[in-house]
Amino acid sequence: MAKVDLSKISLRPFKISDVDDFLLWAGDDRVTRNLRWKTCGSREEALTFIRDVCIPHPWRRSICLHHRSIGFVSVYPWSGDDSCKADIGYAIATNYWGQGIATKTLKMAVPQVFKDLPHLLRLQAFVDVENRASQRVLEKAGFLREGVLRKFTYLKGVVKDLVLFSFLSTDEISSENI
Ligand SMILES: CC(C)(COP(=O)(O)OP(=O)(O)OC[C@H]1O[C@@H](n2cnc3c(N)ncnc32)[C@H](O)[C@@H]1OP(=O)(O)O)[C@@H](O)C(=O)NCCC(=O)NCCS
Repeated sequence: MAKVDLSKISLRPFKISDVDDFLLWAGDDRVTRNLRWKTCGSREEALTFIRDVCIPHPWRRSICLHHRSIGFVSVYPWSGDDSCKADIGYAIATNYWGQGIATKTLKMAVPQVFKDLPHLLRLQAFVDVENRASQRVLEKAGFLREGVLRKFTYLKGVVKDLVLFSFLSTDEISSENI
């Protein structure tokens, strides 16, 4: 795989026409293993998921390379007394791992999220202690590692220790490689 030109990475809302590109990564167990998503099993399932989940989502973007979907980044805002915060999640197609795309994505997404949702004070991410790549991404994007939440939740039937990371609206995004 040739080295990706990170200036060709963009974020945009999902479209129904993303279905075939979407299935390539959302149909891959290695991508969905750490997510609450079920691996997409067919084109039909992918279409339904884009239409019913991705498009109406409060803030979900397709990570695109040359305008084609190679992953997602989502922000899910809490409500009521927790409306100061939102959870961030993301994934990249396996063919493109290790090229800085997730880091670049967070550096683009975080300022945009605080602009789009101006009431937000805090973005947070929960990461499996075993998911070293995702922890590294968050560190490179300037998130603060707050600590480990022991036996915090079940993920696909297995109870997990999770690392909690945060980024505040007043924090500085690292300017390297934006
Ligand atoms: C986690 C994920 C998004 C990373 O995407 P990516 O585009 O490969 O990330 P980047 O290239 O920006 O950075 C990855 C970093 O992790 C490091 N890394 C990768 N595997 C690692 C491992 N097993 N142990 C330690 N570090 C690791 C890389 O070396 C790199 O750090 P560096 O730049 O200091 O060398 C991608 O692996 C993925 O989609 N995984 C499945 C979904 C997922 O886990 N989502 C996050 C849920 S919280």
